[in-house]
Amino acid sequence: MNYARIVGTGSYLPARVLENSELEQMVDTTDQWIRERTGIERRHIAAEGETTCDLAESAARHAIEAAGIEANDIDLIIVATTTADCVFPSVACLLQQRLKITNASPAFDVQAVCAGFVYALGIANTFIKAGSARNVLVVGAETFSRILNWKDRNTCVLFGDGAGAVVVQASETPGIHSTHLHADGRYAELLHVPQGISRGYTEMQEQGAFVEMRGSEVFRTAVTKLSEVVDEALLANNLDKSEIDWLVPHQANLRIIKATARKLSMTLDKVVVTVQDHGNTSAASIPLALDVAVRDGRIKAGEKLLLEGFGGGFTWGGALITL
Ligand code: ACO
Repeated sequence: MNYARIVGTGSYLPARVLENSELEQMVDTTDQWIRERTGIERRHIAAEGETTCDLAESAARHAIEAAGIEANDIDLIIVATTTADCVFPSVACLLQQRLKITNASPAFDVQAVCAGFVYALGIANTFIKAGSARNVLVVGAETFSRILNWKDRNTCVLFGDGAGAVVVQASETPGIHSTHLHADGRYAELLHVPQGISRGYTEMQEQGAFVEMRGSEVFRTAVTKLSEVVDEALLANNLDKSEIDWLVPHQANLRIIKATARKLSMTLDKVVVTVQDHGNTSAASIPLALDVAVRDGRIKAGEKLLLEGFGGGFTWGGALITL
């Protein structure tokens, strides 16, 4: 049982859909600009009072059901999120309670923004390979709408809310072949929410805490780093790019996705693209895209997938897996 394998996927999107045309009424933008620059057509937005844990719970229940296990079989919960319900406890602990898991197994959140899911998958892989866990629930869940300045056209058109989840299980056959995690804090100010608890709670309450981004610089670095991590994953597994069946990328911008696909000489029909319907759901975007393509029958058991993500920090990473 030296390997870790994804044995179930699930996802959840809030009911409310916000179309580009509605954003035209809110900020100085057009549907055409958003589509051409990003590929985004619509995104889901959590209802008032609907929290990241609510989204995570629904996605997790679907993944647990797909895995054919009981919630109490889970012996580790990792939630990747930037938009936790509260300062503490973690979403993972709240989720453990919601799922009525009473086995006292560990639960914690990972904060690596849009690369969070790949980070969480890497941690799950390490726990399982070390023999420290057998059934890990890995969730990416976000209510990014809560940290958007809805008057800032540079950012508010890009993001959406949602959750995706996987159950990673100890296995005799390889599933997760490798994960490759990176960060470079020197880029922190290109993409950040500069306010926070420790910098002054009162100021944060008064001014709000919103995403700020230098979009074109983020874009350029994302393309470079994702291209590097793709090479790194192929090299680590001694694989040729032609051996990858599916690219499941972070869904931030269709132009970034296309650049990575070009690097892999992949046509878009081998790339899972959900950005048009979900926008950028940060840590949720990769498991959401994965679940969509598993459930609609595109991705099949036994196929080789390359997952990659890039986000604030900067953080980025890739995972090469056989489903
Ligand atoms: N509608 C209309 N015009 C706009 C909008 C908008 N919503 N937003 C910006 N513009 C304007 C700008 O003001 C600028 O105008 P100017 O030339 O008069 O100054 C013009 O459009 C061009 O702006 P650029 O930033 O150069 O446009 P670009 O082609 O780079 O596209 C975008 C912007 C979509 C943000 C792109 O840079 C991008 O996707 N960046 C990466 C975002 C990303 O990948 N984030 C990933 C991680 S997210 C996370 O971790 C939380």
